[in-house]
Amino acid sequence: MNSPVRLGVNIDHVATLRQARRSDYPDIVEAARICEEAGACGITVHLREDRRHIQDDDVIRLRRAIATRLNLEMANAPDVLARAVEVRPHEACLVPEHREELTTEGGLDADGNRQALAATIRALQDVGTEVSLFIDPEPRQIEAAAALGATHIELHTGTYCRLHGARQAEELARLTEAAQLAHQAGLIVNAGHGLTLANVGPVCRIPRMHVLNIGHSIVCHAVFVGLAAATRAMLAAMAAAPQAEPS
Ligand code: PXP
Repeated sequence: MNSPVRLGVNIDHVATLRQARRSDYPDIVEAARICEEAGACGITVHLREDRRHIQDDDVIRLRRAIATRLNLEMANAPDVLARAVEVRPHEACLVPEHREELTTEGGLDADGNRQALAATIRALQDVGTEVSLFIDPEPRQIEAAAALGATHIELHTGTYCRLHGARQAEELARLTEAAQLAHQAGLIVNAGHGLTLANVGPVCRIPRMHVLNIGHSIVCHAVFVGLAAATRAMLAAMAAAPQAEPS
């Protein structure tokens, strides 16, 4: 049976592979199409300030090419906002960002940054982009998101994913309560960060959950489910090459 919770695929790490060599492959648009054909309801990319994986041109091309929804993760930073306003993604998810971090660490302090966020949310909504705030499952952050006029929140599941046993169950309960509170406040509830095949089940069962945005574990799994076919394709190309003259 299909889960009513939908999947948005974050393809940042397809671009990480490309940027490792500054090559023109793997193509980000092709990756997005494969995810869409496999059932993703949307494509997520994070245009980081240091442009370590996704580049400005990727966002422009994806916005034109994909058939589903583009969700742009972004810091509240002027140059990224300018690009977002130009590209008009279907949705923008505002995240905290620190240059040295390996990935987003923790949720946005929406409550502590109301003034700075209000202008950004307005600028995005003015061009028709729906705004989501990536927050920890805390009532004051949910209240701030609703007061700021965001239509969505994305609950940070990174803590849940790092914990085990009773502590993980406690974090799951916090996420469940936060989803309920956010729904009552009129917010659409998404979640993501750190989700894998092993830990996604309980998050899927949280009532009111709309979309889970998942990236790293899917791209990692794709390496293993695709490595045999990629090896066979290379062997076939080698076998098809004209033989060298014997010397
Ligand atoms: N949601 C947000 C806001 C994120 O910053 C990220 C990571 O870019 C994800 C979801 C996806 O997390 P992961 O790659 O661990 O699945």
